[in-house]
Order: sequence, then C-alpha cells, then structure tokens
Amino acid sequence: MQLRHFLSLRDYNSADFFSILENAARVKRNRSALGAPLQDRHIALIFEKPSTRTRVSYEVGVKQLGGTPIVLSANEIQIARGESMADTARVLSRYVDGIMIRTFSHEKLTELAGFSSIPVINGLSDKYHPSQTLADFQTILEMGKHPDKIRIVYMGDGSSNVAHSLIFGAALAGSEIIIVSPKEYRPDPDVVEAARSMGARLKISADLKDAEESDVLYTDVWVSMGQEKEAEAKKTILMPYQLNEKIASKMNNGGILLHCLPAHKGEEITEAAFESSYSRVFDQAENRLHAQKALMHFLFS
Ligand code: CP
Repeated sequence: MQLRHFLSLRDYNSADFFSILENAARVKRNRSALGAPLQDRHIALIFEKPSTRTRVSYEVGVKQLGGTPIVLSANEIQIARGESMADTARVLSRYVDGIMIRTFSHEKLTELAGFSSIPVINGLSDKYHPSQTLADFQTILEMGKHPDKIRIVYMGDGSSNVAHSLIFGAALAGSEIIIVSPKEYRPDPDVVEAARSMGARLKISADLKDAEESDVLYTDVWVSMGQEKEAEAKKTILMPYQLNEKIASKMNNGGILLHCLPAHKGEEITEAAFESSYSRVFDQAENRLHAQKALMHFLFS
C-alpha cells in the first residue's frame, strides 16, 4: 500500500478531497458505514498544545473505526526533553500504525513525516489545519449548493493556519474564496501562489465591502496559542474585521457563519452573530468526527 500522509491539502487533488467528503456524509448518516479499517491497529495521538475538538474527535473516531488510540501529551514523552521528531518517528513507526500530531512548527511536522514509515496526520501546525478544513467543507456542502457556486469569505487574520487550509480547500472544491483582512495579516505568499497554481479563485482584500454577498462567512480566533506577546496590538488592528450582525445580514440568502472554535466572543465574532440563526458552528464541530473518520478510512483502508 502506498504511504500517504495528511499534512496539508495542497498535497491532495479534488477527486480525493470529494471522495473523503462523500464518505464523511455517509458515516454521519450511519456511524458504521465505513466498517472497521483500524481493526487491530494502534494510532498515536500526540498533543504539544491543548485541544478539545481534535483530542476528543480523533480518539472517538479511531475507536469507532475499530482501532486503539494512544493519547500522548508531549510533556509525557521524550519530545519534551529534546528527542528529535526524526527519532520519534522511527521509533513510533515500529510500534503503532499511524500518528496524528498537534504541534507548533510545520517544519517539525514535515520532519516527523519524512522519517515515518506510517501515515502522519496534521492535527494543527502553525501553518495549516487541514483536519479542520475537511469538517468545514462537510458543513459547507450540507448547504446543498453546488461547490463552484459558493462564495466563501474569511474575515480577520488571513495569515492563520485555518485561513491557509481553507484556501486550499476552496481550490479543491472549486469554490470562490475572498480573504478580507488588514494588510498586516494577509495569507503567506507561498500559500497564495500554490493555491493559484491549483486554480484557486482567490481574492485578497482589505476592503470590508468584499465581505458582503457571501454564502459562507468564516472567522477564527485572533490570538492563537503561542502568540500571546503580540495579542493587544493584533486585536487593535483586527477589530474593524470583526464578524458581527451587520456584516452577517449582508450575506446571500441561506448564508451561514462558521468558526472553528474555541471562540473569543466580543473579539473576532460578536455574541449575537455567534448565536444567530445563520450560525452552523456546532454542526461544524460535530463534523470533525465524521470527516476525520472518512480521512482515516482513506489513509488506512
Ligand atoms: N478547532 C480546533 O482544532 O479545536 P481544538 O483546538 O479544541 O482541537
């Protein structure tokens, strides 16, 4: 079987992306629909940072696919004392059948994958959060619109891991995506170039008018784990790009609001927008479980 990792959606094609999403919808309707591809298999789930959704949805997902999760906080393994990702990968490859990791630096993730002989899944790095994007697009497709007729607007910190992965998801889905962010927080030029070379219909704008007439309005927390030092300055720059009721009311008919959670209400999103009838944030959180089961079925079947 060919070894596949899941580090970024830039390494995937549209056929694989839609195949995973179709299985995500199937397994949402029937939790056993994908069988037990992880029977007699162990999956290490490594966390260098806190997590609620990723932690619980991967552990439950592995069990529902017949496997055994081994949850490891980085503090309890030798990574915390400086053991390299390369050595960790070569050791774990001899014990378990797959690794899901949440880490700080994307370089560390690629080092781990480079030395691993088993699939490695990105559960969040500083550059990408593709596990989240699968759930995002499962939720977006539940709107029932054809993907190439959907306009997604991401407001706020366009340089975030969630924005970067959403850009690649939109490129694979054929959806239009507009990043509305101040010039200080635009997406990484490397991401923009790679997404455009995949055919992305991507616009980067600082003009709030470009956030109007969307089908999906998406935002994420402004200050990520590890960015606490720049918090106050960042909040001031981003405040005009808050997702509020005014901008939500300018969505197209049937438009939805997404947020990958956890939310800082009153900062990147208002309480009223978060709790509004447009909000699909808890469907989106639920879909982490279904989409990741479909991903693991794809990687391990
Ligand atoms: N959205 C997300 O990844 O949530 P957690 O940080 O709780 O895993």
